Amino acid sequence: MSRRLKISIFRHNPRDPQSVPRTVDYELDEQPGMTLFIALNAIRDTQAPDLNFDFVCRAGVCGACAMVIDGRPGLACRTLTSTLPAAFSLYPLPVFRLVADLSVDTGSWMRELAERLQTWVHLDAEPDLDRLEARMEPTLAEEVYELDRCIECGCCIVACATAQMREGFVGAVGLNKIARFRLDPADTRDDADFYELVGNDEGIFGCMSLLACNDLCPKELPLQTQLAWLRRKMAGQGVRWLRRG
Ligand code: SF4
Ligand code: SF4
Ligand code: FES
Repeated sequence: MSRRLKISIFRHNPRDPQSVPRTVDYELDEQPGMTLFIALNAIRDTQAPDLNFDFVCRAGVCGACAMVIDGRPGLACRTLTSTLPAAFSLYPLPVFRLVADLSVDTGSWMRELAERLQTWVHLDAEPDLDRLEARMEPTLAEEVYELDRCIECGCCIVACATAQMREGFVGAVGLNKIARFRLDPADTRDDADFYELVGNDEGIFGCMSLLACNDLCPKELPLQTQLAWLRRKMAGQGVRWLRRG
């Protein structure tokens, strides 16, 4: 027998001076294989035509649909209602600017992060576009692509106690990007260059290693391994500088 779901959804439009932050309960019958994407569309179609939420790919690839689902950050398009209790809540991701209801602006935050951490391949010289691309060992290429699977959903930032307390903390998403470019032999930056970017309390030394990011990343990126690797690299660089005096 199908369940009757009661979904408490955060409603607020910061651009509307009359709007007051609140939660509104919506009820609907659960269908087999129902995801939150389907449930939210059903609510918008039948009960709340002005409900705001974001979806692009519906396949766990774009990161747009991240929200706080029954108290935990996750992707709405990849969450089956059958994995949740009959009554649950949906809130927008905190930390990021609220657009309205469940929609937040992760894009501006991620862009600022990319500019701050310079998350692109750095070269010493102008690239020669006529030259064949340098070969990369398949195992190394796989390691790089594994970290490139980050969809910038923001779940690791919302899960992270440090990010909640320290505004400038780059979080697992930022540290994972640094690890990705440190691995990439096409990038000519060395440990000293990366230390300048994340060798501080807003970077790797602010991370408390409690690993909520690792537990809640919907793409199951190997964040635990990468954070430990990057901390070792950056600590090694710090020690080298200390020894040199
Ligand atoms: S590291 Fe994982 S949780 Fe963080 S932004 Fe990337 S995909 Fe999302
Ligand atoms: S391990 Fe570090 S980055 Fe991950 S949630 Fe904890 S403090 Fe944040
Ligand atoms: S809609 Fe793209 S990840 Fe959910």
